[in-house]
Amino acid sequence: MTRRAFWGMALGAPTLGGAFLWRHSTTIQLSRRECRLAGLRPPRPIRLLHLSDLHASPVVPDILIEQAIDQAVALKPDLFCLTGDYVTARAEFDFGWYQSQLRRLSAIAPSFAVMGNHDGGVWAARTGGFESLRQLNDLLQSSGIQLLPNANTVVEAAGARLQLAGVGDLWAQEVDGQSAFHGLDPRLPSILLAHNPDTKAILRDYPWQLMLSGHTHGGQIVVPGLGAPLAPVKDHRYLSGVKPWGERWIHVTTGIGNVGGLRFNCAPEIALLSIDGA
Ligand SMILES: [Fe+2]
Repeated sequence: MTRRAFWGMALGAPTLGGAFLWRHSTTIQLSRRECRLAGLRPPRPIRLLHLSDLHASPVVPDILIEQAIDQAVALKPDLFCLTGDYVTARAEFDFGWYQSQLRRLSAIAPSFAVMGNHDGGVWAARTGGFESLRQLNDLLQSSGIQLLPNANTVVEAAGARLQLAGVGDLWAQEVDGQSAFHGLDPRLPSILLAHNPDTKAILRDYPWQLMLSGHTHGGQIVVPGLGAPLAPVKDHRYLSGVKPWGERWIHVTTGIGNVGGLRFNCAPEIALLSIDGA
């Protein structure tokens, strides 16, 4: 090998590899998934758009979040559900810009949200983030998005009625199942919004049929043959996609943004769930 070829390889390969990883980390895929809930009888399947882990921060370009919202809005879903980590704990974000983006969701469909570990609370404070959820509460509420902080609500979608229950974040030690499920109508199907899919274990005894989560980023770095060693969950069976858990379903989206700047073998996604009766 000539000296020129050697230096070409030495300098070019990392540059090409970095460009590939950057492009992979910023190319959003649309994932269409289906599940069926007992007790639900919609005239047509409900189209629920699940967004998570936008992680507005210097390592997540604004344009990535804008494109995710462009694509989500273009799909004209019946409702939006957002499952936390709107920011990255110690990173700054532009409140006005973020509000203008999130308002585009609530302008076309009812929108509901819970918080993630990065959004504020004991975990976020330990990592340089907000001690409270006040800033993110303000952002979401002023964007027309209804928060479900250990609370529930009845929604009508595609001509059917169902319940949404939301809990606080597991790592923030904010999960309160009793409050989240208080007063639910047992005759209506219930969808649980919980940032971290590990939350399922402590909410086992509550009446939900489908849980929507993020947090994993799908593992963020997925190594063929090795899996996702960095996935921040105990149960690695639920890193992405819609999967059964006993008689119930869990949907985990890989989310939009990331922490640290790069994804590998695990693209950002928006997820459109088609939910029908069982
Ligand atoms: Fe996250």
